[in-house]
Amino acid sequence: MSDEPLVLGIETSCDETGVGIVRGQTLLVDTVASSVEEHARFGGVVPEVASRAHLEAMVPTIERACREAGVQLRDLDAISVTSGPGLAGALLVGVASAKALALALGKPIYGVNHLASHVAVDIVEHGPLPEPTMAMLVSGGHSSLLLVPDVTNDVRSLGSTMDDAAGEAFDKVARVLGLPFPGGPHVDRAAREGNRIAIDFPRGLTTGRDMERHRFDFSFSGLKTAVARWVETRQRAGETVPVADVAASFQEAVVDVLTRKALLACKEHDVEHLLIGGGVAANSRLRALAQERCDKAGVNLRVPRPGLCTDNGAMVAALGAQMVAKGREPSDLGLPTDSSMPVTLVQA
Ligand code: KG4
Ligand code: ZN
Repeated sequence: MSDEPLVLGIETSCDETGVGIVRGQTLLVDTVASSVEEHARFGGVVPEVASRAHLEAMVPTIERACREAGVQLRDLDAISVTSGPGLAGALLVGVASAKALALALGKPIYGVNHLASHVAVDIVEHGPLPEPTMAMLVSGGHSSLLLVPDVTNDVRSLGSTMDDAAGEAFDKVARVLGLPFPGGPHVDRAAREGNRIAIDFPRGLTTGRDMERHRFDFSFSGLKTAVARWVETRQRAGETVPVADVAASFQEAVVDVLTRKALLACKEHDVEHLLIGGGVAANSRLRALAQERCDKAGVNLRVPRPGLCTDNGAMVAALGAQMVAKGREPSDLGLPTDSSMPVTLVQA
């Protein structure tokens, strides 16, 4: 047990200041300070507000994580930090803090990819990651389909969104329906009372030449516009908008496309394990439909618990611990942040 690497992970790519500590494949603590409420009145994350909140939360969050895990900083084997992709100023706060810790403690530092971390986190929940695993990451910032032969150094992108991320579509539709930000959980809740076949909303990039050219890509912007038009038409006619039905039908369009393409990717690449991560993985209908379709296709579905699906420090620590365990070289202490770090680059 004690010869397994003890790694502290720092995540600041968006609005969550996450600090997690992992020993090998065991999660010791996952501490998150979120600035989401400070962004709510703007209807989206404001980068400068997020950076300032990270700065204020960083030291107390690290101290709390160590206290709750009963870990002394000097006992750590490595520091792991998200170096990209994400908001430039927000990433800088995390990377600068990680460098300061690494330098002061004389520990190795691993600058890691945020998306690969979303995949690696499932190791602390469901054990070693089957190789290869198909991963679908759906959040407010990303929607990607990844073929993952080795999460520490071989992540391949099969497709991603051409416009809005899946979570972004949820947030925008929520706004159209008068639901609070972030909209995903509210749409999910409203949809439970609605009829998912009430309105036939478009499924982007699923037919004809679109599907041929963008087999594993997604597009949610047309869907979002279709929902807005549908709602406006009712409002202009003075009719009440059936919020639950709109929410349920919109949600069905999103999760139908996501699960259809994910399972097609599994089939075409002969992969038997599908992992879903990112904030939208908390969606109850996505979980249910993915399970149903995976069962039918004989695919094993892995979805981390909701707290590990949203941005957190544990995922960064989990990937760092894998890096150490596999003997990967640490990053240079001068490692840069990269707000548009490609998903194929697992380590900075
Ligand atoms: O991973 P995350 O915490 O942050 C990033 O965007 O990276 O994901 C947040 C996103 C938001 O767009 C939020 O609306 C969405 O995940 N979300 C959901 C649900 N819970 C969170 N979307 C649909 N259904 C949910 N239950
Ligand atoms: Zn994320």
